[in-house]
Order: sequence, then C-alpha cells, then structure tokens
Amino acid sequence: MSNEHGNLIKNPKQLIIMVFACFFVPLVIILLLLVYVNNGKRGDSSGAADQLIKPVGQLNFKDASAPRELQTGEQVYKTVCASCHVSGAAGAPKFGDAGAWAARLGKGYDGLLTTVLKGKGAMPARGGASPADISDYELGRAVVYLANSAGGKLAEPKAPELTK
Ligand code: HEC
Repeated sequence: MSNEHGNLIKNPKQLIIMVFACFFVPLVIILLLLVYVNNGKRGDSSGAADQLIKPVGQLNFKDASAPRELQTGEQVYKTVCASCHVSGAAGAPKFGDAGAWAARLGKGYDGLLTTVLKGKGAMPARGGASPADISDYELGRAVVYLANSAGGKLAEPKAPELTK
C-alpha cells in the first residue's frame, strides 16, 4: 500500500527507461546548445542571419541621366567590330592589313564613318550595334582605331558636348 503513492518506478523496466531518460535528455539538450552556439560563430558578416534577412530580389537601378562612360575605339572595336574585322569575314578589310585598307583610307574619316553608320555590303549599319549602346562618337573612335591599325593617320574625333 505505502509504495503506491509518489513512486514512478514500479518495476525494473521502468527503472531502465528512467535511467536512459536521465542520461539522454541532458545529452540532447547539450548537443542542441552546441549546434546553436556554433551557428552563432559561423554567422559573421556573410552568415546565416544576413542570408535570412536579405531581400528576395536585389534591384540594381542605373541612373539613366548619369553621363555614360564613353567607350574607347579599342573597346568598341573589340565588342562590335572584331567579329568581322579580325578574320576578314565576308570580305571585311582586316585589322592591321595595310593593303586591304589603303584604298579605303582615301575616303578620309568622314567618308569611312558615313559608311559605317549606313552599312555597306555585308557590314550592317553601325556594325550592327544599337545607337542606344554605342554613339556616333564612339563608332568614330572605332573607325579611327581600325583605320590607324592599318597605316591610317586619322585623328581622334572630338568628344561631343555632354548634353545635361
Ligand atoms: C558583320 C561583319 C562586320 C562588322 C560587325 C563590322 N564590319 Fe566593317 N566591314 C565589313 C565588311 C564586309 C566590309 C567591306 C564592305 C565593302 O566594301 O563591301 C567592312 C568595311 C568597313 C570599313 C571600310 C568602309 C569603306 O568605306 O570602305 C570600315 C571603316 C569599317 N568596316 C569599320 C567597322 C567598324 C568601326 C565596325 C564596328 C563598329 C565594323 N566595321 C563592324 C564587315 C563588318
């Protein structure tokens, strides 16, 4: 009778369960604490917390009215013109090929630029570039870069007045 109250352990099986519980419950709690502390350490600046609170999409607004950085003739040449003018594809006069350019150089800067702006033969107008990406002035610089690679003595075109 006296044993029935206040005693949770009534048989050997319950004793074993209690011993296991007393051993494992604190162990699990300690492990969880260790994991928690470790997470805190890893999360320096690039860490978990930043990942969690960072915005879903990051918008990169360009200031449309900011003056655009003008590309040099070499940059324009490499991005737009080189595809044809390196190899001489479709009969394009090659970069640095004085023979191919000699007759064309006679047209002078304005003549050559006009051809590029309008296109000629297999060359699309502006070499295929959109005027939104590459201005006339930048195309002009590319013409100079290309022509001067092949014995031309064209002067850099004058930079346009910045419209602001
Ligand atoms: C799709 C190929 C292609 C691209 C891209 C291209 N060209 Fe050409 N280019 C040609 C061909 C082909 C010719 C020869 C056209 C002809 O005489 O029939 C040519 C000719 C020229 C000439 C000589 C024009 C003349 O009056 O004789 C110049 C200058 C020139 N290209 C500059 C450029 C510049 C600068 C670019 C880049 C902005 C460019 N090209 C991009 C194919 C191309």
